[in-house]
Amino acid sequence: MNKSTNILAIESSCDETSAAVISNTHVLSNIIASQAIHQYYGGVIPELASRAHQQKIIPVADEALKKAGISMHELDAIAFTRGPGLMGSLLVGVSFAKAFALALGLPLIEVNHMQAHVLAHFIRTKSALTGHENPVPEFPFLCLTVSGGHTQIVLVKSHLEMEVIGQTLDDAAGEAFDKAAKIMGLPYPGGPLIDKFAKEGNARSYPFPFPQMPGLDFSFSGLKTSFLYFIRDAKAKDELFIEKNKADICASIQYTIVEILLRKMKRAAAETGINTIALAGGVSANSGLRNAFLAMQEKEGWNVFIPAFEYCTDNAAMIAIAGHYKFLKGDFTTQGVTPLARMNL
Ligand code: KG4
Ligand code: ZN
Repeated sequence: MNKSTNILAIESSCDETSAAVISNTHVLSNIIASQAIHQYYGGVIPELASRAHQQKIIPVADEALKKAGISMHELDAIAFTRGPGLMGSLLVGVSFAKAFALALGLPLIEVNHMQAHVLAHFIRTKSALTGHENPVPEFPFLCLTVSGGHTQIVLVKSHLEMEVIGQTLDDAAGEAFDKAAKIMGLPYPGGPLIDKFAKEGNARSYPFPFPQMPGLDFSFSGLKTSFLYFIRDAKAKDELFIEKNKADICASIQYTIVEILLRKMKRAAAETGINTIALAGGVSANSGLRNAFLAMQEKEGWNVFIPAFEYCTDNAAMIAIAGHYKFLKGDFTTQGVTPLARMNL
């Protein structure tokens, strides 16, 4: 039997410091240190994020190796997020990965964060019910990647061949969740809180307008503005409007965001003739979105793939699986590599 390939992966593109160890497609450890500091500011403060990465990166990488039971001398490569992301945050992870690889004489693998969100689907996981390995999507498939910074419909042709066929022209879906939460006075990141309160509410309570975007592109900035005016006007009539109607407001805004995403995916499936549909990125943790897509299995015969919760939001295991496929191709980078705040698929 061939020796398995062990890769240490580093993710530091935004406000999560993460390190993971993967052995072929099996994740041995996936350590994520979230930065609570940003909740006091209503959004990620880049300078504070890079300082926190600087403090956490060594303990997080150390813990990932210990939990995996792998010594650094058993590693075959170091993978890291090159971009897209916050420059100061990326710099910490890239510098750490380069120094670590140089010290150990290991090859370096650069990973595109958005490609990694898609490839999270190929991490081997077992069904809690049957104990069997969960199936992975077959090529070609469509992936809706929805995070705090991106909203993309990706045509996935192979592990490393992807094409963006639709994307947001302004805010990302995660931003729409977070900004709506902020308008309601909820702390950052508000997406998970809207999800939580929405469970108790009626999604049809408050209708919000749908953007008229042609083709497969998205726009969320108009929804944010109409939500802002809606809350402002309702509060002018009743100061306690939000407190009294929190669940219904959350359910209604969540329903609207999910519907916008779902309608475009229906269109993408119809135009490409592909009905293997995957979700990726932090917003794919949203229960309304998951349920809406799972319902399409029955309604439209879609074959729907949703990653395990821990691989939806930012994590290094997805960087590790991307690193694995690039390792197989011998796709390495050099010590001269620098981070990229913007990076196409
Ligand atoms: O992929 P991710 O962890 O980071 C980026 O690359 O941006 O995504 C973070 C985004 C945030 O906007 C957060 O509010 C959103 O994902 N999010 C959710 C949920 N969990 C995370 N949005 C709605 N419902 C959730 N359950
Ligand atoms: Zn992300």
